[in-house]
Amino acid sequence: MNLSSDKDQTIKDFGEQWLQYPDNKGYYGSLELFSDILSPFIKTDEITGCRVAEIGSGGGRIVNMLLEAGAEHVIAVEPSEAIEVLYRNIRKPEKVTCLRITGDQLPAYGNLDYTFSIGVLHHIPDPAPVVEAAFKALRPGGHFLIWLYGKEGNSLYLALIRPLRVLTKHLTHFMLVSLVEVLYWPLVLYIKFCHRLPLPLRGYVLSVLEKMSPKKRRLIIYD
Ligand SMILES: C[S@@+](CC[C@H](N)C(=O)[O-])C[C@H]1O[C@@H](n2cnc3c(N)ncnc32)[C@H](O)[C@@H]1O
Repeated sequence: MNLSSDKDQTIKDFGEQWLQYPDNKGYYGSLELFSDILSPFIKTDEITGCRVAEIGSGGGRIVNMLLEAGAEHVIAVEPSEAIEVLYRNIRKPEKVTCLRITGDQLPAYGNLDYTFSIGVLHHIPDPAPVVEAAFKALRPGGHFLIWLYGKEGNSLYLALIRPLRVLTKHLTHFMLVSLVEVLYWPLVLYIKFCHRLPLPLRGYVLSVLEKMSPKKRRLIIYD
C-alpha cells in the first residue's frame, strides 16, 4: 500500500464530496447532534470560553457547533478543496483560523483546551503523526476528543459496504452521485421498516439518520 498516494487520494475525494454537499442545515449541523456525539465525555457547555482546534473540518459543521457551544477561538484544519466551503459556511469568521494543512502539520500551540477530530482519523492511512500533533497543540491537562466509525455492532453494514467498495472506489464522482440516487430510495424504505421491525442499526437509523434532511441522507450514502 502506498500511504502517501492513498492519503492524497482521500483528501482529493473529500474535496469533491464537500463541493457537492456543502450545506450544514438541520439536525446534521445542530448542537443537539454535537451533544449526542460528545455526551459520554463532556457537555457542550464545557467548551464555553475555550480555545480549541478541529482536525479535518470538511464543510465546517463541527466548527459552527463549537462556536455555538461558546468556544472563544477555533483552529479549523482542512487539507482539501473543501476549505472554500468551510470559509463560506463559518458563522463567526472573526473567531476562526482556517488552515489548509494536513492534521500532522497542526502547529504545536501548546495552549489549546481541546482538540477534536470527528469522523476523520479512520480515513487517514497513517494517523499516528496526526494524534501526536493534536496532543502537542494542547495545554497541559487539555483533552483530545476523537470520534471514529465503530466496528462493533456494524458487521452487517461492513458485509454490505466492503464488496460495494471494490466497485465504488473506481467510480467517478458523477457516477457515485448517480449511485447515491439508486441507493437513496431503498434507504427511505429501510427507515420506514425500522419503525416496525428490530432491524440491524435500528437505533442509529431512528435516532440519527431519520432526523437528517433528504440532502444529508444522500451525503451520508456518498460518504
Ligand atoms: C468525514 S469528513 C469529517 C468532516 C467533519 N469533521 C464533520 O464531521 O463534518 C473527514 C475530513 O477529514 C479530512 N482529512 C482527510 N485527510 C486528512 C488529513 N491527513 N489531515 C486532516 N484532515 C484530513 C477530509 O478532507 C475531510 O474533510
